[in-house]
Amino acid sequence: MKIVVIGGTGLIGSNLVKKLREQGNEAVAASPRSGVNSVTGEGLANVLKGASVAVDVTNSPSWEDAPVLKFFETSTRNLLAYEAAAGVGHHVVLSVVGTERLLESGYFRAKLAQENLIKTSKNPYTIIRATQFFEFVKQIVDYSAEGNKVRMPPALIQPMAADEVVSATARIATNPPVNGTVEIGGPEQFRLDELARRFLAAHSDPREVITDPHGRYYGIEVSERALVPDTTAQLGETRFESWLALSAAQIPSAHLKRSAVAAATMEQESHERAS
Ligand SMILES: NC(=O)c1ccc[n+]([C@@H]2O[C@H](COP(=O)([O-])OP(=O)(O)OC[C@H]3O[C@@H](n4cnc5c(N)ncnc54)[C@H](OP(=O)(O)O)[C@@H]3O)[C@@H](O)[C@H]2O)c1
Repeated sequence: MKIVVIGGTGLIGSNLVKKLREQGNEAVAASPRSGVNSVTGEGLANVLKGASVAVDVTNSPSWEDAPVLKFFETSTRNLLAYEAAAGVGHHVVLSVVGTERLLESGYFRAKLAQENLIKTSKNPYTIIRATQFFEFVKQIVDYSAEGNKVRMPPALIQPMAADEVVSATARIATNPPVNGTVEIGGPEQFRLDELARRFLAAHSDPREVITDPHGRYYGIEVSERALVPDTTAQLGETRFESWLALSAAQIPSAHLKRSAVAAATMEQESHERAS
């Protein structure tokens, strides 16, 4: 089965391409680096030729209100139109649990617009809503840091390993479209302030986390259950503590996400050279 991964060089995309190939699929990584741009339409017709499935794991280069909305709207409209023209039978997209509860943020308004374009299209689809990746915890902390203090709300969060986002996405992409939304999440719930404390302690980061009900999650106030999935969500098995122990031992925290992407991209490039 030919599966095109739009955003196939990103954290999720590069590992998804690898996983789909291991499972015997013809997975193609598409992104501006390989001459495919979902915003301008460049390269889309060609890469989608003969594809059964397209998985959209792109992210916007800017998270400012207007550019992020323009990115997800334009990119999604283009993907849906080019996929319909190429006869692609399943559009899969990665979105975020609780999006409709986070609309104070321009980023989540853009993700909701992306979901709505898909739901109102004629393309067969599956929307996957994932909780926050473990790999994203550092960014959440950094965003709320002021000098040596990090103000965090005690809201609940149920984060998951990016690896398990990849496995779930591969499974969903190789099954028929559900024309609806599937939620995925981690095995445990934490309070955001406590999660931040554990992350900083594991990385010997001296910043102090202050519990503040008005503290912010990526710039916005969140209610207690805004970030947690439904009881019907499919849950991963990797525990935060296990991931944390490995990641803190192996990689300096500042390079966590970049290293994960670089490793998967190198492996993908060597695979492409070999085939
Ligand atoms: N972070 C979280 O905790 C979380 C939770 C749930 C869901 N999600 C969702 O997961 C998705 C993927 O996130 P990620 O962290 O894997 O993203 P990422 O590492 O930032 O990767 C973004 C990808 O998008 C590609 N891209 C950017 N502009 C493009 C364009 N014009 N045309 C085609 N591709 C383009 C990039 O290609 P280049 O490398 O060529 O620039 C890259 O491959 C996002 O949509 C996000 O909303 C994230």
